[in-house]
Amino acid sequence: MSGSIVIAVDGPAASGKGTLARRLAAHYGFAYLDTGSLYRAVGHAVRQAGGDPSDEAAAVAAARTLDLSRIDDKAIRTPEAGEAASLVAAIPSVRAAILDLQRGFAANPPGGVPGAVLDGRDIGTVICPGAPAKLFVIARPEIRAHRRWLELNNSGSGVSEAQVLEDIKERDRRDAERAASPMKPADDAHLLDTSDLSIEAAFGAAVAIIDKALG
Ligand code: CDP
Repeated sequence: MSGSIVIAVDGPAASGKGTLARRLAAHYGFAYLDTGSLYRAVGHAVRQAGGDPSDEAAAVAAARTLDLSRIDDKAIRTPEAGEAASLVAAIPSVRAAILDLQRGFAANPPGGVPGAVLDGRDIGTVICPGAPAKLFVIARPEIRAHRRWLELNNSGSGVSEAQVLEDIKERDRRDAERAASPMKPADDAHLLDTSDLSIEAAFGAAVAIIDKALG
């Protein structure tokens, strides 16, 4: 068994888990893996090749050849890539193809640091069920839509807030209802509602929970 300390941060789209997980990694001196970026990169690669993200053969081929160092961060942050991500993410063989990569990162974080923070949908339930600290980050859909809309607007997208809300609700539904590793809190996860919290306050609350969990 590896001695790496894993912090699992799960939750729905734009709940604040990415910002939080990145800050937690810096705070504890751990490595950080945004597992959503893997599904986004797979979905994006399928679309780039002119394929359909729901097509299992195309999606699995993209997942098996995923190259972490070649993920184009800008291209995978679009709403279309998020949509493609949730389609490929519902395919069990795609999830299986990138399981070892995630577990390997958690067990042997790059740079020889003592732990890893992974954020996603199934880190606490499937990828690292033995993680000693698990957060499930939530926020009301309207708040999440507003945050995501601000982010997209900052990067020049003309999408409306109502459309972002609709997309988020559809993605929540697909992520929670799929048979393969559905999005749900682990039994031993701590729920953190960031609806009415600033980034700073959410970070403080998360550190208090994690410090207690890690003893
Ligand atoms: O940034 P945002 O919260 O919108 O999404 P993300 O974390 O980048 O994830 C994009 C999509 O990938 C999600 O809607 C899920 O369908 C899928 N995903 C997953 O199934 N399992 C994970 N561990 C992470 C993401």
